[in-house]
Parts: sequence; structure tokens; C-alpha cells
Amino acid sequence: MFSSNDTPAEEFVLADRLGAIINLDDITHIDFLEKTIGKIPETISCRYNPGGLFKISNSIMDNPGDAKYGMTTEQLFEAFRTLKAKGAKEFGIHAFLASNTVTNEYYPTLAKVLFEVAVRLKEETGVHIRFINLSGGIGIPYKPDQEPNDIKVIGEGVRKVYEEILVPAGMGDVAIYTELGRFMLGPYGHLVTRAIHEKHTHKEYIGVDACAANLMRPAIYGAYHHITVMGKEDAPCGHMYDITGSLCENNDKFAVDRMLPQIDIGDLLVIHDTGAHGFSMGYNYNGRLRSAEVLLKEDGSAELIRRAETPMDYFASFDSFPVYEELKKAVDDAAGAVGEEV
Ligand SMILES: Cc1ncc(COP(=O)(O)O)c(C=O)c1O
Repeated sequence: MFSSNDTPAEEFVLADRLGAIINLDDITHIDFLEKTIGKIPETISCRYNPGGLFKISNSIMDNPGDAKYGMTTEQLFEAFRTLKAKGAKEFGIHAFLASNTVTNEYYPTLAKVLFEVAVRLKEETGVHIRFINLSGGIGIPYKPDQEPNDIKVIGEGVRKVYEEILVPAGMGDVAIYTELGRFMLGPYGHLVTRAIHEKHTHKEYIGVDACAANLMRPAIYGAYHHITVMGKEDAPCGHMYDITGSLCENNDKFAVDRMLPQIDIGDLLVIHDTGAHGFSMGYNYNGRLRSAEVLLKEDGSAELIRRAETPMDYFASFDSFPVYEELKKAVDDAAGAVGEEV
């Protein structure tokens, strides 16, 4: 399944060559795709955005009306008619209307919206809907006192609306897809970083050797990631710290005013729940480098599966770099000169 937006032509070409189901984000992409790959695939999907606010009971879960993704209801119907006329035979619907929902009600509520529109699409356009992709959005408890989602209750909720809406409409053959990222991966990755500086000014700071380039959620939207200090898991949290990275941006803080055990230089801090948005969304802002990745295996052993970037990786994409050799020597010398204890 290739879900994208503002899609470059070469990505549609590659998705088609790989045999992916293409999920169109916009009605104008029908012509763009046809021109790019020379056909409309027999199986095709469209991304739906009904607009407005996404509510469960009285609480607002998210604001699809403000999201750049997906087609309006009118566009979805028109897109299905156009695609059918151009030869598409099997259809899918996709929607992602709320993010990081920590409630068992999101998926069943979303399913109801999509199942109802699917029945109307089938009746009004005569297409065969092969699947409905409920996408992501099932969240995780980032804070230790939050109640986690119960995936079995969620599945049961979806089954109930499936039987209430799709089965009576003769659509009991529709497959249900998911593409859960955070729920499946988030809790199973950690960013492990070392305290390298402490600073006592108007606040108490601990500077670590990771930064927002390794995990951007706290910097860009103030997200909470739980932090523990290795070997001090049971120590009292009697100190208030800001935990900072080295970017030249004041929002480069993994935690603000966080109560933690006393942190000493050299301590390893574990930043939790970074499986979904850590390395995979890492970048080179400020010329910072990506970290190594270590796989923790079931038997407790660890394997280095990706080395840390070096400054020479950062310069490697220059086609021509006059002082490359000199720079490489300087970088190697500097690496060699850093003492073991540092
Ligand atoms: C199209 C699409 N599908 C699935 C996901 C995964 O979402 P989540 O991590 O909420 O499960 C994303 C995340 O941004 C997405 O953009």
C-alpha cells in the first residue's frame, strides 16, 4: 500500500513497479498518475477526509478539516466514477482522521464513518470495494499513569459495526486493513543517550549527547517522552531538570521541568517510546549526525545493526569537494584525540 501526498512522479513509478496498491491523496492525482505510469491500475485506493472535527461522544479527537490529506466526500464519489470509467476494477478506501488516540473507541467510530460511505459508494457508483484501510491512529500511553488501549476490544468494536453496516449491504467480502505504526513500534524503541554536561543558571540543565535531530517530537510539539536513568530506576525523583540537546534552538529539550533522580555526568538516560518516531524520522538539522542503532534480541544480547554517522557521511554527497582529504584527516585526528573518559 503506497499512501503519499504531494507525490513526486518517480515515487508513483516505483510504487507501480513494486506492485504496491496506490492510495490517491487527491482527485487531481488521477490524471497525474495516468500520465506518469501510462495507465490506471486495476486495483486502486482513495484517501478520504470528511472534514470538520472528528468527535467521539463529546470529545474532539482531531481536526480533519484542517488536515492536508485526502479527498472531500464529493471528490471521493467523483474519483471513484472517474477511476471506474478509466478501467479500475477493485477499489479501496483509506482514512486517517485522528492521531495517537488513547481510547478503544477511535477505530470503531472511524470504521462506522468509512463503512457508511462505502455502502453509499457501492450503491451510487456501482464499484466493487475490495478493502477498507483504517490506517493508523491507535495511540500508546506515553505517560506511566495512562491506561493503554486494548487491541482486542478495538477489534471487537470494528467487527460489531462491520456486521451492522457492511454485512446487511451485501458487503461481507470487504477486507479490513490497518497500517499501525506507533501502536506496533513506539514502545519497542528507546533513545539511549549519555549525560555529558550539567549547567546551573536560571534553571538546572542536563546536556545529553542526543538532540532533536534524533527524536523530534518533544521539540516540534512538546510531546512527553518518559525518561529513566539507567541504574537509578528506583531512586527518588527529587531533582527538577531540563534535559537538553545541542541544537541551536531553545526548543531542543527532551524534557522541561522534569522531576528525575539526581543525574551525574556519564549517566545513561533512556528516553522511552521512540520506536515509531526516533531514528526513522531523524534528520541532519544543524549539521547533526544520525546515531547508531542497536537491536536488542529476545535472548538479551545486543547487535549493532547500523553504525553512527561520521562527519564524512555528512560530506559524502558532494560530487566535488576540494578539501575532502584534508577534512577527512582532520576528522580522523579529532576522533582519535578524544580521550576514553570523555
Ligand atoms: C498514511 C499513514 N498510515 C499510517 C501511519 C501510522 O500511523 P500511526 O503511527 O498513528 O499508527 C501514518 C503516520 O503518519 C500515515 O501517515
